[in-house]
Amino acid sequence: MLNQFVGSVVRYEGQKFLRFTGTPDLSSISSRGKTRGDRVSLYIHIPFCRTLCPFCCFNRYLFKEDQARMYFKDLRKELDMYIGMGFKFNDFYFGGGTPTVLMDELGDFIAYLRSKFEVKRISLETTPRELTPETVEQLRKLGINRLSVGVQSFDNGLLKDMGRTLFKGEDSIEKLKSVQGKFDTVNVDLMFNFPSQTLEQFKSDVRIFKELGTDQATFYPLMPSPHKMDALTKKFRKVDTSREKQFYDVILNELLDHGYKASTAWCFSRGDLMIDEYIIDYDDYIGIGAGSVGFLGGDFLVNSFSLEGYHKLIEDSRLPIVRMRRLSDTEHCRYYMLTKFFSMGLNTKQFQNRFNAGIHSRLWAELLFFKTMGIIKEKDGLISVTRSGMYPVGTMMKEFFASLNTLREYCIEAGI
Ligand SMILES: C[S@@+](CC[C@H](N)C(=O)[O-])C[C@H]1O[C@@H](n2cnc3c(N)ncnc32)[C@H](O)[C@@H]1O
Ligand code: SF4
Repeated sequence: MLNQFVGSVVRYEGQKFLRFTGTPDLSSISSRGKTRGDRVSLYIHIPFCRTLCPFCCFNRYLFKEDQARMYFKDLRKELDMYIGMGFKFNDFYFGGGTPTVLMDELGDFIAYLRSKFEVKRISLETTPRELTPETVEQLRKLGINRLSVGVQSFDNGLLKDMGRTLFKGEDSIEKLKSVQGKFDTVNVDLMFNFPSQTLEQFKSDVRIFKELGTDQATFYPLMPSPHKMDALTKKFRKVDTSREKQFYDVILNELLDHGYKASTAWCFSRGDLMIDEYIIDYDDYIGIGAGSVGFLGGDFLVNSFSLEGYHKLIEDSRLPIVRMRRLSDTEHCRYYMLTKFFSMGLNTKQFQNRFNAGIHSRLWAELLFFKTMGIIKEKDGLISVTRSGMYPVGTMMKEFFASLNTLREYCIEAGI
């Protein structure tokens, strides 16, 4: 009941939130680059995959080598535009798609980053299928700090239902064993609330993760896919959430108080490992590549989703930003609060520094609601999320991502 209420409020707010204006006013980006260009992380989207999973809600395209090589060149040009505006990145996140589809281009791109910036941390997503001994060695040499492997499930029956038939659960287990200890953090992505998934199957997935001793797991609740290419893909355009909380409770019961800490409401790590989501550590981030989203000083920036549209804008030496939304002050405070709650805690002093105002005066009604509902508690300037608050907070984030998916769907359909 509470979750439905919280979810519908965030869905309603999210729809307003992401009501993007047409022509972006890009002047604020360059002024931000000049003033606070060193406090921003960089997200790099590589939208190519060797096969397309029908459930996937990200911007992805079937891998074609020529297209991908041109794309890497475009990425560099886009990055140069930000460098020209004074941005100095040192924290990088390669997401996808599958960033490892063209290792030589990835290597050249990372070498370019190292020639331009003091690289402190690189996080990179891939699939188990990609993790050959040669690729793992290359990734190590490239200095990847956090390797995130999208396994989804270890159950072969479920993998078949997911349309991921090319790689078996037992092979993923072997791959995870082979990379453990070779990177600062190895993360495994597992999904829950799949239509045919049982709680027993999911419990077994979580237990295999624990037995493997992998550093970290991120659990994604199934979200609707904006793509509608064929009958199978269309099946994933709506999601039944009636069992979602039961799946989430499996995670809490198996991991919390059993040696794992929540880095976010969806990400659980052994000990003090780095936090998963790129939006959490840095309050501002730039996204480069087709369909990337950035957040800069209260502005949401959305790049062209289409590969052609993206290439054309870069070819014209223009930033490929096609939509922009400036948040109102209150919306900005709320978005900040949401991301901090998702990462389990908000420091009231940091809020004061960012907004020049106290959170208790800016968001008093929201805080009262969350406290009354037992979602948060406050002590010594830290507002933290309670165990029972974790699921509602995850629901809020999911609704926020769903708003992004709506935008993605609109842009993909409109060829933007
Ligand atoms: C962008 S993918 C990149 C990882 C890699 N391409 C792979 O699939 O193994 C990151 C993660 O998003 C999650 N994901 C993809 N589609 C999703 C959906 N519709 N709902 C929830 N999570 C999803 C999966 O867990 C996936 O591992
Ligand atoms: S889940 Fe991963 S491999 Fe599958 S289509 Fe999405 S990004 Fe590509």
